[in-house]
Amino acid sequence: MEQVNVINRTMELSECASEWFFDEKYRCWCLEDVLYTEKATTPKFQRLSIFVPEPYMTKGGEINQQGTMNGYSAETVPVIFENNSAGYMQMPHVWLEGPRCYAQQYLERGFVYVSCGNRGRETRDADGRLCGKAPVNLVDLKTAIRFLRHNRAVLPGNFDRMISVGWSAGGAMSTLLAVTGNSADYLPLLEANGAFPDERDDVFAAQIYCPIIDLEHADSAYEWMFAADHENEDSPAGPSGVMTPFQEALSAALQKRYISYFNDLKLVDPQTKEVLFVGTDGRSGSGYDYLMRRLEDSATDYLRRLQSGMLDEKYSPAEYLAGEYEYQKEVPMGGPEKKDVADLLRGHAGPGVMPGKAEGDRAQGNTEAGQEKPSLGDLVSRPPKGVPFKGMKPPMMTVKGSEKSAWLSWDGERAHIRGLDTYVLQHRRRMKPCTSFDTLGMDSGENEVFGTNEQPFMHFNKEISEAVLELKDQFPEEFERYYASFAQVKDDAELKERIALLNPLNYIGTEKKTDAAEHYRIRVGACDADTSLSVSMTLALKLAQAGKDTDYALVWDKPHCEADYPGEVCDWIDRICK
Ligand code: DHB
Repeated sequence: MEQVNVINRTMELSECASEWFFDEKYRCWCLEDVLYTEKATTPKFQRLSIFVPEPYMTKGGEINQQGTMNGYSAETVPVIFENNSAGYMQMPHVWLEGPRCYAQQYLERGFVYVSCGNRGRETRDADGRLCGKAPVNLVDLKTAIRFLRHNRAVLPGNFDRMISVGWSAGGAMSTLLAVTGNSADYLPLLEANGAFPDERDDVFAAQIYCPIIDLEHADSAYEWMFAADHENEDSPAGPSGVMTPFQEALSAALQKRYISYFNDLKLVDPQTKEVLFVGTDGRSGSGYDYLMRRLEDSATDYLRRLQSGMLDEKYSPAEYLAGEYEYQKEVPMGGPEKKDVADLLRGHAGPGVMPGKAEGDRAQGNTEAGQEKPSLGDLVSRPPKGVPFKGMKPPMMTVKGSEKSAWLSWDGERAHIRGLDTYVLQHRRRMKPCTSFDTLGMDSGENEVFGTNEQPFMHFNKEISEAVLELKDQFPEEFERYYASFAQVKDDAELKERIALLNPLNYIGTEKKTDAAEHYRIRVGACDADTSLSVSMTLALKLAQAGKDTDYALVWDKPHCEADYPGEVCDWIDRICK
């Protein structure tokens, strides 16, 4: 049985004063490997670590009321709560210098920093039973926030100024934490999870990177954005492939559904107050234009920064447009030996959401508990003391930039992009097949998220069953193969509820009673193809429409990652907290 280090015997951190230690390099006090619920089923992933900049603490875990940094004191300093969720999987809390650790910039700015782990779609308890299906990931994080608040008297930091941070599935979690604060919907689950019933789980603000949300509309959104591209790359989501005639028809049917869904949202341009809609061709209308303007804003921002020498990249806008530059990117999947044949426009640059192809194996029932390949969460967990961490930096390669005049131009003031289809075909091609989230083989990460403890993988998108039904006469064989299992989704009330608990859009501008955060900052890589760019745009527009302070931008040429320019998230936190 694997040894899991836990420093607290009880839920009272007052008993752990002697466990705080000082990190010389980061100049901070650390309290690591804290279990945040007494009812932990899988302690390895239900722990957190707290890092406190030097001025707010003295030896022995004592709060220093006099210490100040960047204008904050132990009483006023914001608390960053970064979840490490990835792929909706079980993930550990991070350690300084460990993989996926983003603590440094926050600590240097004087913020208290908490890294939190959570269970996920593949988690099993000590008896080998599944126990991390939706919305457990979120419930764990809410439990951790309540635990921190319960201990606030012995922790430096203003726990009314908690800033949630996360990317991808973690961006989804960050969004959900912010919009569902103190919602009664989660109370029975929180109670069963050992959360403090009288503590709050709301946050003050959320930094959201590349959120993978609105999962039940993500398939149709994907077909809308990537409609022009009928090939997908080799990625953690599955092998490369070319659409079959059935998939082409399905893609078109889903795109159509997305256009109606988007138009029914009646989103409004925050500046002009114009209602945003997408034309029936999918490539016209104010909603389409709005996304294209955001892409152009992103390119404009990048080219202006290039022009003024603000970036590490030292080439000029003209050189960038002409492709006369080189950059580093992850080696496309398949490994370095494939790099000569790989299409360099492609290559998923995300976190490697599932090493190997364990997912497909599990969906097919090919592996037993205990025999599975290690999960990403296991691979990025801290090894026991004395055992060195091998690291898992993805291999990088130097790539020559591409010539961009066919689709991108720059008049010295503003960038212009010819259209979404050319952007997709020339710059960021399709990563996932059709269907992309609720897959035909029922073997995606999301299928596992919405499984139950008894049935590990399940369908969850009823739009797909409707589209398959529409195509019955044209594709009778595929109808036979897929319809019945997708159609089950429609009548499953329990599943419907779990889907609803995991979709932040249900909690924004609706009747639901929550203590939602006031401030939101959304950043998404303009080269993120893990989900449609319209998904995060919709989130931003819904938040703005609900009167929330929303700062939304695409970050040019960044893939699926913590897409940002250095220091800007901390500037934002200073702005909203000072
Ligand atoms: C993540 C990436 C995905 O493509 C996805 O479907 C879900 C989660 C992630 O990186 O967390």
